Amino acid sequence: HGHPAVRATAVAFPNIALIKYWGKRDEALIIPQTSSLSLTLAVYPTTTTVTLAADGEQHQVLQDGAPMPQAASVKVARFLDHVGQLAGSSRGACVETSNAGPTGAGLASSASGFAALAAAAAAAYGLDLSSRDLSRLARRGSGSASRSIFGGFAVWNAGTDDLSSYAEPVSDAHVDAAMVLGIVNAGAKPISSRDAMRRTVETSPYNAPWVETNPTELALMRDALRRGDFTEVGEISERNALRMHAAMLGAVPPVRYLTAGSMALLDAVAELRRGGLEAYATMDAGPNVKTLCRSADAPAVRAALAAAAPGIEFVIAESGPGVAVSGPDDA
Ligand code: PMV
Repeated sequence: HGHPAVRATAVAFPNIALIKYWGKRDEALIIPQTSSLSLTLAVYPTTTTVTLAADGEQHQVLQDGAPMPQAASVKVARFLDHVGQLAGSSRGACVETSNAGPTGAGLASSASGFAALAAAAAAAYGLDLSSRDLSRLARRGSGSASRSIFGGFAVWNAGTDDLSSYAEPVSDAHVDAAMVLGIVNAGAKPISSRDAMRRTVETSPYNAPWVETNPTELALMRDALRRGDFTEVGEISERNALRMHAAMLGAVPPVRYLTAGSMALLDAVAELRRGGLEAYATMDAGPNVKTLCRSADAPAVRAALAAAAPGIEFVIAESGPGVAVSGPDDA
């Protein structure tokens, strides 16, 4: 209809939470029950290009050149409708996305995915958003994506509504941390984090204490980051992950992402500590174990874990950057 075809591309990286987000207060707006804090990684980026089509044209969603599975592409189309509404546009869009890492395996592909989509779609539709508003927009796709707008450590303030729920950088962190990702299983998770969270909130007797203890744990974490106390950061991170899994294990029926392979890695990480190498485990909506360590120790931690768990692939992930956008350009 006479519009030039406008296109924008964004690259975003996954993040792993040290204080976890688990459970929503508002499902439609994705307002979490609690605040969370994460480290953005320098591996497994998502690259997403959004090209605007004509007015009223249907959205099209391609992953690695092929149509995305129905459920996922519906989520993306709804997200594009929201961005179009913000921009006062009814143009359709073509989304082309690809993940350098595994998708839907608890390695934060939804975080990098919706952070990249938010940035590319906002640019293509001509929205000039502050990083706070971009974080709020990414949150509407996937809660954890709000944090991948930023590099390094980021905190997502739970807030109480759409305006007050956004992430921002932790500007006073003095810890040089990396993660060693142990790929126990790169397959898709058995239950989506969205469904698993809802079940935890609705049925787990441990949800209330999980929520109640969050402010203190987050405050202790922020203080430890400020003081550069890596040991404290690690201890809080590991117990926070275990408490999140405890909350979901209490659901009816129970939600269990951890497998025997995950437990073996937890043992291996504890063994490293006994040997004097400081390392702490964290696990998300999947069996994979991410080991937090000092950046300088990452090669030694990787080698020790590889020796303890032969057959498992370990990937070193340093602290990574926030989302980067190029465009909009004429396609
Ligand atoms: O943003 P979602 O819906 O993919 O949920 C992420 C939940 C965890 O990864 C388990 C925790 C977190 O804070 O990232």
